[in-house]
Amino acid sequence: MTHTKILGTGSYMPNHIITNQDLAKIVDTSDAWITSRTGIKNRPMTIDENTSDLAYQAALKALESTDISAEDLDLIIVATITGDYVLPGVAQLLQRKLGARMIPAFDINAACSGFIYALDIADKMIQSEAYRHILIVGADILSKITDFSDRNTCVLFADGAGAMVLGPSKEKHIKAIQTFSKGDQELLLYMDSYPLKKNFETPPQARPFVKMQGSDVFKFAVWAMPYTLNKLSETSQIALDDLELIVAHQANERIIRYAAKSLKIPMDKMFMNIGKTGNTSAASVPIAIDEAVQSNRLKRNQVFGTVAFGGGLTWGGAIIKY
Ligand SMILES: CC(C)(COP(=O)(O)OP(=O)(O)OC[C@H]1O[C@@H](n2cnc3c(N)ncnc32)[C@H](O)[C@@H]1OP(=O)(O)O)[C@@H](O)C(=O)NCCC(=O)NCCS
Repeated sequence: MTHTKILGTGSYMPNHIITNQDLAKIVDTSDAWITSRTGIKNRPMTIDENTSDLAYQAALKALESTDISAEDLDLIIVATITGDYVLPGVAQLLQRKLGARMIPAFDINAACSGFIYALDIADKMIQSEAYRHILIVGADILSKITDFSDRNTCVLFADGAGAMVLGPSKEKHIKAIQTFSKGDQELLLYMDSYPLKKNFETPPQARPFVKMQGSDVFKFAVWAMPYTLNKLSETSQIALDDLELIVAHQANERIIRYAAKSLKIPMDKMFMNIGKTGNTSAASVPIAIDEAVQSNRLKRNQVFGTVAFGGGLTWGGAIIKY
C-alpha cells in the first residue's frame, strides 16, 4: 500500500508589520490588552501582494526544500478564504506562476482548518495512487476582510502563506488524520457573501467583513483541540506524551495554553509563534510547521501532532512522522 510523506515545507510572511501600538492608534485598545488576552505583539500585513503571490513564495520555498520541481507536481490544492478573485481560484493562479503542467488545481474553504483539510484530501489522493506529488498550500490575506474599526477582530488577524510538498512512501508517515465540521454554529464566525436579488434588482452592497463572537469561539476552540488530539492518539495508538511537538493553529496563546493544560502537555511541547504572526487563518499551521522545521525544533523521523479549528465550524488534526 502507498502512504504519504512530507517531502518539504516552506512559508512566507509579508515584510510589512503592524504592531499593537499601530492598532491602538485606530481602535480603543492597548498593547497590554492585546498581549495579555491573545499573546500577539506584531502581525504581518501585506500592502502590495495578493493571496496567490504569498502562496507562490511559500510554494517556491517548499519545492526548493525537495528534490522535485514544479513540473513534477500532479495536483495543487490551496486552502484559502481570501482568494485574489472569487474565480479563478488561487490554485490555478499558482499553477501558472509555478509553471506546473496541465494538472488539476483547486481551492478549498474550511477557514482556519483549511490546511488540515487539504492534507487529509491529499493523503487520500496519494493513497489512491492516482497522484504522486501534491503541493498543498494554506494562504490568506485576512487584512482584506478585516473591519479595522472593530477591536474584537482587528487585533487578531494577519496575512501569510505556508506550503508543503507531499509524495508517496512505503512507510505510513501520516499516523492518523481526522477532520470535522459542525454546520449549526455558522454565525459564531462568518463573513457575508452576495445578497439575494429580488426582481432582478442590483442593490448596493456594503463591503463585507469577518464577524465573530469571540468568547463563544474561544470556548469551542478549547474543547476542539483536546477532543481532536485525544481522537488522533486513540486512532494512531500513539500517546500524546510520545509526541515531540504539537503544532496548533495560532489563534490565541491563551487557547493553546488552555488546551495544553487540559491535556497535561508541557508548554515547551506546544509550538508557538503567534507573538509575531497573529492569526493567519489557513496559513497558520503550515507556517508554524515550516518554522519548527527551519529552527530544528522538528527533525526528520520525529513524530508530531498538529491541530486546527475555525469558522464553519470546522476542526481537525493529524499525527505525523516528519
Ligand atoms: C477575541 C478574544 C481575544 C477576546 O478576549 P476575551 O477575554 O474573550 O474578551 P471578551 O470578548 O470577553 O471581552 C472582554 C472585554 O474586552 C473588550 N475588548 C474586546 N476586544 C478588545 C480589544 N481589542 N482591546 C480592548 N478591549 C477589548 C470587550 O469589549 C469586553 O469589554 P466589556 O467587558 O466592557 O464588554 C477571545 O475571545 C478569543 O481569542 N476568542 C477566539 C477568537 C478566535 O480564535 N478566532 C479565530 C478562530 S480561527
